[in-house]
Amino acid sequence: MKILFFSAKPYDRQFFDAYNKPYGFEIEYLETHLGPHIVNAVDGQEAVCVFVNDKVNAEVISVLHAKGVKIIALRCAGFNNVDLDAARAHGMRVCRVPEYSPEAVAEHTVAMLLTLIRKTHKAYNRVREQNFSLNGLLGFNLHGKTVGVVGTGKIGGAFCRIINGFGCRVLAFDLFPNPGLQSAGIEYGTLEEVLSASDVVSLHCPLNPDTHYLINEKTLAMMKPGVTLINTSRGGLVNTAHAIEALKNKHLANLAIDVYEQEEKLFFKDLSESIIEDDTIQRLMSFPNVLVTAHQAFFTEEALTEIAQVTLRSIDSLLRGKLPAEQNALLV
Ligand code: NAI
Repeated sequence: MKILFFSAKPYDRQFFDAYNKPYGFEIEYLETHLGPHIVNAVDGQEAVCVFVNDKVNAEVISVLHAKGVKIIALRCAGFNNVDLDAARAHGMRVCRVPEYSPEAVAEHTVAMLLTLIRKTHKAYNRVREQNFSLNGLLGFNLHGKTVGVVGTGKIGGAFCRIINGFGCRVLAFDLFPNPGLQSAGIEYGTLEEVLSASDVVSLHCPLNPDTHYLINEKTLAMMKPGVTLINTSRGGLVNTAHAIEALKNKHLANLAIDVYEQEEKLFFKDLSESIIEDDTIQRLMSFPNVLVTAHQAFFTEEALTEIAQVTLRSIDSLLRGKLPAEQNALLV
């Protein structure tokens, strides 16, 4: 059985080759994204394995189906880049890794937050230049602050528990509040209550038509002046142009993003010798109070191990006509 990987990196090869031994799948790794430009190259594979920035729209799905592909396996949790209705219409199976390591993403969110508000990234560079001055490095305590969390599923829930341990008041918004978190002391409110009361807002809901540009001019204005915003979920949750305006007028005091709406042209690539044509990301990175990481929150040994094991196990089950073992892994 042949599986064709798109957007494959050396670490994908390392983990998938290691865990493929019991299955013996014939894996071919392509570095390119999947999209209309390349889909005609698919030939003789029953499964394709894709990642967050592969474009699996109706056009691509129709060609994949015509080429005999039966399974689209996402080696990630989010699935906003796949047209599930089109896959369903063609009788194709789509699976994902619903929970590989919520803690990996939650811990990275905390790392970004602490880096940004305590300026450790600046301190690191300064000290290396033998500049031991503290001027300009003043931060603020998390203890006693109100942290707003939008989306309290697996990742948001893990983040709530960690940040609760810092002695913060955690105020959350979710369409379905989690009673387990409520018993741990997490409070729920409306989106407006959460945004208006919080010193820090962290986004952990999925990207879908309802949440696209959830953070925009209007919702930014609801937030406290001097708010810190963290997005480790999906770039499309934030209207970047509006966030830039809020940074310029100092309403938004700090912004940390691990995801960006136009990230597919940039992230996961070494562009250090290239001219970046995206002026928006360049403008964002020019702010001293903006921290960007390139979709790195999931990137731990534990997460990559789980991703490889679950993806291969799900493909194997589907090929045998069985359902994947993991709950919520099968999308179509
Ligand atoms: P999950 O499905 O466990 O939780 C999502 C939560 O959001 C659910 O509780 C749901 O009720 C809630 N929600 C849905 N619509 C909402 C809305 N309109 N307003 C408020 N809450 C809403 O998902 P999980 O595993 O916690 O992942 C969350 C997101 O994190 C994923 O959709 C993905 O986009 C992102 N992610 C980012 C990674 C990274 O490396 N930066 C890695 C993995 C996931």
